[in-house]
Amino acid sequence: MQFNVLTLPGDGIGIEVTREAVRVLEAVCRKFQHTVILKEALLGGIAIHKTGTPFPDETAKLAVEADATLMGAVGLPEFDNAPPEKRPEKGLLGIRKTLGVYANLRPVRTYRALMDSSPLKNHLIEGTDLIIVRELNGGIYYGTPRGIEGSGDEERGTNTMTYTRAEIARVCRMAFNLARQRRKKLTSVDKSNVLETSQLWRKVVVEVAAEFPDVTLDHLLVDNCAMQLVLNPKRFDVLVMENMFGDILSDEGAVLAGSIGMLPSASIGDRKPNGAWVGLYEPVHGSAPDIAGQNKANPLGAIGSVAAMLEYSFGLTTEAAAVNNAVEAVLNAGKVTADLKPAGTPLTTEQVGQAVCEAL
Ligand code: IPM
Ligand code: MG
Repeated sequence: MQFNVLTLPGDGIGIEVTREAVRVLEAVCRKFQHTVILKEALLGGIAIHKTGTPFPDETAKLAVEADATLMGAVGLPEFDNAPPEKRPEKGLLGIRKTLGVYANLRPVRTYRALMDSSPLKNHLIEGTDLIIVRELNGGIYYGTPRGIEGSGDEERGTNTMTYTRAEIARVCRMAFNLARQRRKKLTSVDKSNVLETSQLWRKVVVEVAAEFPDVTLDHLLVDNCAMQLVLNPKRFDVLVMENMFGDILSDEGAVLAGSIGMLPSASIGDRKPNGAWVGLYEPVHGSAPDIAGQNKANPLGAIGSVAAMLEYSFGLTTEAAAVNNAVEAVLNAGKVTADLKPAGTPLTTEQVGQAVCEAL
C-alpha cells in the first residue's frame, strides 16, 4: 500500500513522542513493504506562535487531504490565561470537528510487565482489557450558548451540554460494532438520574441495541462507573459515553494501565468512499511541559496510536499486531521510560522508540 500521513507533533512532549511514533511507522512500512508519505503541519501553541491561530487553515486542508493524521499533544503554560479562541486546546477541538471524528476509542489494558507500575492491587487489575468509546464531536465541549458575561457578583459562566438523537446513535452504533468483535458486552455510561441529555442518551442506546441482539447492553451512572473502574475493571468490555464523561474516565483508566503515557487513542469518523475510516490518532496524555525536551517522555502511547492507525485507517491488522507485539516485547525486556520505572535507570524516549523498531 501507499498512504499519506499528516503529522501534527504540537507542543511539549508531543514533539518527542511523535518523532518516535514516526520512526516506528517507517520501520513497520519497510518491513511489510508499504510506502508512507509524510507531511507535517502546525497545531496548538506552536501554531499560535507561528501563525497567530491554534488551527491554521493550512493544517485543516492538509488533514482533510491526508489518509490519516497522527497527533502528538497540545498545550503550553504561557496560554493558560488566554481567551478560548487563543488557546492551544482550541486547535485540537477544531481538528476533531473538521475531520468529523465523532468516536474516540481509548483502549485500556494491563500488561503483565507493568502490573507493579499501577498503584492498584495486582489481583484487581490483572487481565483488564476494555475500550472507552468517547463521543468526540458534541456535548458540553461544543454546545452553545457558552461564555462568560456580566460583572461583579452577577458575572456568569455558561456551558451547554446538548446532544441530538443522530449524534448519540452514530457513536453508539460504533461502540456496538466494536463490542461485537470483542466480548460482546457494552456498558453505556450516563447521568440519567439528573440530566436530560443523559435521558435521551439512554433512550437512544436502547433503541440502537435492537440492531445488535448478540451484544449485551447495560447502563451505569457515571459516578458509579468511576468507582467500578477501579473496583472491578475486569467486568468491562466496551464502554460508551458522552464527551466530557469520556475525557474524565479515560484518565482514570490510565491508572489501570500503569501510566497515562501508555494509552493510545483512535478518533474515527465515517468511512470514506474507498472504505477506509477517517482517522485522527493521538496518545491520551497531554503535552507535559514540565518534562518537555528532556527525552524522558513515554512514547508508547504515541506508538500504540500508530498501531491503531494501521488497523483502522488502513485495515492492516497484521502490521498493527506486529507493532503491539513489539511494544509488549520491549515492556517485557524492562526497556521503559521513567514514568514506569521509579527505581533503577530508565531508558530515554529515543531509546524506547529504537527498542520498538528493533523488536519489530
Ligand atoms: C484529551 C485532552 C483534551 C480533551 C484537551 C487537551 C482539550 O484532555 O484528549 O483527553 O479534553 O479532549
Ligand atoms: Mg483528557
